[in-house]
Amino acid sequence: MKYMGSKRTMLKNGLGKLLLSESEHFDRFVDLFTGAGFVACYVAENTKVPVMAVDLQAYSTVLAQAILGRTKQSNSIDIIKKWIGTAISLRNKDPLWEKVEAHARAVRKTKKWVLDARKLCGTESKIGPIWNAYGGHYFSPAQALTFDYLLADLPKEKNRRNLCLAACISAASECVASPGHTAQPFQPTKSAISFILDAWQRDAIVYCKKNLIDLASRHAQITGKVITGDALNAVDKLNSKDLVFIDPPYSSVQYSRFYHVLETMARGYQKISVEGVGRYIPIKDRPQSQFSNTSQAKAALKSLIRKLAAKECTVIFTFPSGEASNGLSGDYIRQIAGEFYKVEDYTTINGKFSTLGGNNEGRDARKTSSELILLMMPKSE
Ligand SMILES: C[S@@+](CC[C@H](N)C(=O)[O-])C[C@H]1O[C@@H](n2cnc3c(N)ncnc32)[C@H](O)[C@@H]1O
Repeated sequence: MKYMGSKRTMLKNGLGKLLLSESEHFDRFVDLFTGAGFVACYVAENTKVPVMAVDLQAYSTVLAQAILGRTKQSNSIDIIKKWIGTAISLRNKDPLWEKVEAHARAVRKTKKWVLDARKLCGTESKIGPIWNAYGGHYFSPAQALTFDYLLADLPKEKNRRNLCLAACISAASECVASPGHTAQPFQPTKSAISFILDAWQRDAIVYCKKNLIDLASRHAQITGKVITGDALNAVDKLNSKDLVFIDPPYSSVQYSRFYHVLETMARGYQKISVEGVGRYIPIKDRPQSQFSNTSQAKAALKSLIRKLAAKECTVIFTFPSGEASNGLSGDYIRQIAGEFYKVEDYTTINGKFSTLGGNNEGRDARKTSSELILLMMPKSE
């Protein structure tokens, strides 16, 4: 899945090697801002170190738990037959499905076709929240009804349920008719209509199966744990044997605004009320982070580093090296880290990974670097 600020590429460019070599000296690896879970899952799949993944957003921890929660492959053929098979058969019997198919057959690259989809999805459905909230906007009527049946029929067993939910969330992020994330759907304008058509033609079942097969074939070496909550509170549970990875928000726009559709799926709402072009749930129900608030981000970061230092945790910190829209910057992070920790400075430069040993070459390179990586060791060591 595409994720804002994902470390997927950096894992292949040296960050992965650094995490694997450092984590073997610790009892646990903790990813405090796990996002799409790429880093937490990478460490869990490649080491015998238990991993804990934390995020404010429930969909993030569902994605991470799909790997951290299992130490064996799952039988995707069996799951597809039972879960997806049942969802398809129930969906096909729903009187709405006939209307959905009629709408899909009439595929036309017109505004009216999109507005007809919105009208159809305005018909009440008691299956789940996707149809009424997002059908005709983020999803085609066929995708919306399909996701609702998949979500309504998730397996009961905890791990299996989470695995299937993660497959749905990943599939939704790949089918959604929205530029990049799920902040706003494409509108049926002349220039955007072909993007809607392209996204709406994706078969939700095909994408769900593909993600299920991938996730089911992967697993942690040692069972890990996830926490849906604030990183600042999660630090209370840490100790000096933890290696902590920090990849905080760099945007002043809340992540819950970008990924609210996935959050609706993860939280298992039955019905929601949405507002505005973005079809958001009310702001009071969307997690708000101090790290995405320009007036709070610096204090929150300092408080986090101070708490981690008091717990004597070793930290690997990544951040874009320039000034970010939430007011944090590479320089500020270096300064705060230096107050509480012994700091070793790494960076990625044009895709290459190097340590900045303080020589002139390194200092020059720092100016042009794209992503800062700090290794922060407790001063007591
Ligand atoms: C830059 S992204 C992390 C990307 C992740 N490393 C990856 O590779 O997918 C930052 C994440 O921090 C989460 N977040 C923001 N504030 C938080 C907080 N106070 N506690 C925990 N997570 C938070 C956001 O929901 C978002 O998923």
